[in-house]
Amino acid sequence: MGYNVAIDGPAGAGKSTIAKRVAKEMGYVYVDTGAMYRALAIYFLKKGLKPEETEKIVEACKEAEVTIGYEEGMQQVYLNGENVTRMLREEAVGNMASVSSAIKEVRAQLLELQRELARTKDVVMDGRDIGTNILPNADVKVYLTASVETRAKRRYLELQEKGVECNLEEIAHDIEERDHRDMNREIAPLKQAEDAVYVDSSDMTIDEVTEAIKALCK
Ligand code: DC
Repeated sequence: MGYNVAIDGPAGAGKSTIAKRVAKEMGYVYVDTGAMYRALAIYFLKKGLKPEETEKIVEACKEAEVTIGYEEGMQQVYLNGENVTRMLREEAVGNMASVSSAIKEVRAQLLELQRELARTKDVVMDGRDIGTNILPNADVKVYLTASVETRAKRRYLELQEKGVECNLEEIAHDIEERDHRDMNREIAPLKQAEDAVYVDSSDMTIDEVTEAIKALCK
């Protein structure tokens, strides 16, 4: 069994930035589980499916295989052998992932892949149900969050930097909607594990959060 650090929390809390940093500085492997849901979402979108077409998504799921690999320490995600890493962050993909990840069969498809990685490697794994469901015996569990306002501002600045037109209020609205979906779905909803350390990053720098989490590790 590897050493397992589980970081869960809502969209935009800074999980991936922090998890990547902690992994690099501690010499662990970073595993981004959201990217796996996003890869399946790409498959559903490629097939022309709509988020509400649950039955078709369940069927399509059987034809999609997600695997991961690493290039220069960066996680790469493959969908039926094709590297789809560059497409993962598109808005439509995130929205499809948020809806389709509520489906039992979609979650079941990725569960073993995630557990297997944690069995064989020292990992920092981020997602929504890592501490509660995927790795209930993780060595360290963190629930990383920030206010909706802070998360919306971070996303706004990120998009502006990329030159993407955006509206702060719309971003905040999307974040609230996604939180609601992730926290209220029937299967593996986002919630803090009882033994997770709660970290609110609203008024903390990336360095401060990284150090706080590293201090919890062996
Ligand atoms: O973290 P992210 O934005 O890349 O995740 C995309 C979607 O996938 C998110 O809306 C919720 C879902 N997800 C999940 O249900 N369970 C995980 N462990 C990771 C992500």
